[in-house]
Amino acid sequence: MRRASLRRWRNADSLRTVMNTSLLATLNERFAEAIAQVCETTPERVTAAVQPSADPKFGDYQCNAAMALARQLRQKPRDVAQRIIDAVHLDDLADPLEIAGPGFINVRLTERALAGALEAIPVPTEGDRDPTADASTRFAPADRLAIPRVADPATVLVDYSSPNIAKQMHVGHLRSTIIGDVFARVLEFEGHRVIRQNHLGDWGTAIGAVITGLWYVRTRLARGEDLGGIRKRLELINALRGQGVDERRNALAPIAAEWTEDLARNDAADYAESTTLDELELGYVFVQTIASIASGTGVLVGSGAQEQLLEGIPRLITTFLQRGSADDRYEQEEWRQARTISVNACQSIYDVLGVTLTPDDMFGESDYNAFLAETVTDLKQRLAQPTGPDDAIRAVYRNDQGADCIFLEKPDGTPAFKNPEGNPLPMIIRKSDGAYLYSTTDLAAIRYRVNTLGAERIIYVVGAPQKLHFQMLFAAARAAGLAPSTTRLEHVSFGSVLGDNRKPLRTREGGTVKLLELLDEAQRRAFEVLQTREAEEDARDADGALDDASKRKIAQRVGIAAVKYFDLSRDRNNDYVFNWDQMLTFQGNTAPYMMYAYARIRSIYRKAGDPAPQALYADGATITLGEPAERALALRLLRFRESIRVVASDLLPHALCSYLYELAADFMRFYDSCPVLQAPDDATRNSRLRLCDLTARTLKLGLNLLGIDVIERM
Ligand code: ARG
Repeated sequence: MRRASLRRWRNADSLRTVMNTSLLATLNERFAEAIAQVCETTPERVTAAVQPSADPKFGDYQCNAAMALARQLRQKPRDVAQRIIDAVHLDDLADPLEIAGPGFINVRLTERALAGALEAIPVPTEGDRDPTADASTRFAPADRLAIPRVADPATVLVDYSSPNIAKQMHVGHLRSTIIGDVFARVLEFEGHRVIRQNHLGDWGTAIGAVITGLWYVRTRLARGEDLGGIRKRLELINALRGQGVDERRNALAPIAAEWTEDLARNDAADYAESTTLDELELGYVFVQTIASIASGTGVLVGSGAQEQLLEGIPRLITTFLQRGSADDRYEQEEWRQARTISVNACQSIYDVLGVTLTPDDMFGESDYNAFLAETVTDLKQRLAQPTGPDDAIRAVYRNDQGADCIFLEKPDGTPAFKNPEGNPLPMIIRKSDGAYLYSTTDLAAIRYRVNTLGAERIIYVVGAPQKLHFQMLFAAARAAGLAPSTTRLEHVSFGSVLGDNRKPLRTREGGTVKLLELLDEAQRRAFEVLQTREAEEDARDADGALDDASKRKIAQRVGIAAVKYFDLSRDRNNDYVFNWDQMLTFQGNTAPYMMYAYARIRSIYRKAGDPAPQALYADGATITLGEPAERALALRLLRFRESIRVVASDLLPHALCSYLYELAADFMRFYDSCPVLQAPDDATRNSRLRLCDLTARTLKLGLNLLGIDVIERM
């Protein structure tokens, strides 16, 4: 009796350690201690190389350290393995250890250890928490499934979504938004201080065209023209591409005359403020196009002192805006409005998507304007002498044909980056006309993020085409000392979303796919899928038919979740083909399947009479894992922590998706082979219901970290 309770106490203690770290971390620690003893060193200096076993035949985990160590110690690997086994303390957690093959040490955890670790997860909390709180405080300790925050929180900045002003977000921004949001959620859950930054492209040379376009569209609408009219004119102008100067001049003349008249009357301001993003984008594209078609034609717009070359107008407006003088208040106000229109349009997409970005996270390129000149001066000073350790890329400042450039060089003096012709590729930070660039802003942003925001890790969630930009940016920032070596700079890139033709996703007409329309379609299709499914399958395990209104609500959630999950469940480095049928099927690793798995478990729970969790979690109530399927489920549940760790460190959301999918599969196997409601006795029924509850809670938390809300009934 005394011995038994003593063992229990010891168990409780070691299980607390297990839950405080993870099974994997605990095993790594224990093996590290043993290896240190074998090698006569300290545990910090050894890697225990514990891994989950690929095949349950070889136990739950294996320690692979003996092979490497054998070389070092000049001993046989199996002998080293035996010495490690003799030194390691695992009798509270594992069955006697076994050596396999050349020297793998197989670990099979005891049923009691697994059950005890699960028993240590507290009763779920009642009621919903404040959903606006950050993820580390949004979850009560019990909702966190006893997963503690990290001991050494860092300030992590996630730069994501980052669309451009006056443009619909494209699918690339959708990926950045969905993936970046997972990082923000997971890192916050881990206990880090997360700063979300939406690096809106709201500056640069295109803004002149944006503002002129806004003026143009508003003026034309105020004159009673509709968008169709402007679109037609745009088509007309587009058709002039490649034609001779005379043809273009003649065709542009009437438009320029109308434009001049509009300028004279200047009544755009009368037009209501409610310009949409579509209108803004149309105006912007129109002005960009007409300016390029006007190139070389000499077509003029405006009269008297106002007269200008049509092709030069956007550039002119950009300079007005960039010099920031009080005379240009009209342009500044127009720009502000264009920005507001864009920001609001983005926010409505974030809201539909259930993404945690808010208007407060918007920190656009324009917000760095005030720092660009000082950033360039600072860089010049810092790079006056080549910097950095001898083995790192060095940065050399040089003025090249009037432009301020940073040349990045390998230690041997050869260029670190070359253009396709093989010449050194510099990072231009100020053009000869004084204009700053995308790179300049990003350098200023690093300075601000490190010095002012205190970022210790900066994660840029941006598509693969910008790989070179970030390589050069990071090299320059490091070499110039803008980011100390302790600051992690990571470009998290991702592949493209392709259409059926394996080319980047486009509408049937060849235009860019509008996200809001895409998300509407997702909801519509999800509703159809739910309808068909219901018609086909009355043998539903859930609690009977749903009315139309609830079905619509479910379809909304499932549709959006399907788009998100389809993206997240793939290795982000690869391209993927967008496929409605695949993302909306209830089979396989999809959102509908995962959400249904959750709802189904909840329905089992309801069928059991919705027992109060307190009853299942009562003091002394134990979990038993006699059946292989019970044991497999328990082990999987306990490995949740590891998969979150992978997302936090390797930034791979699909690892969490795969985990949740395997959890759902393990649950289904358990449910098929272990009766829950008809369990042989009350204790077993209780234990199994508790496994149901823990699975549901794990799925809910895991999906939440992926930005997906579960549904109780579907
Ligand atoms: N606005 C850019 C684009 O749409 C992405 C910005 C990414 N973030 C950054 N700090 N450069 O391509």
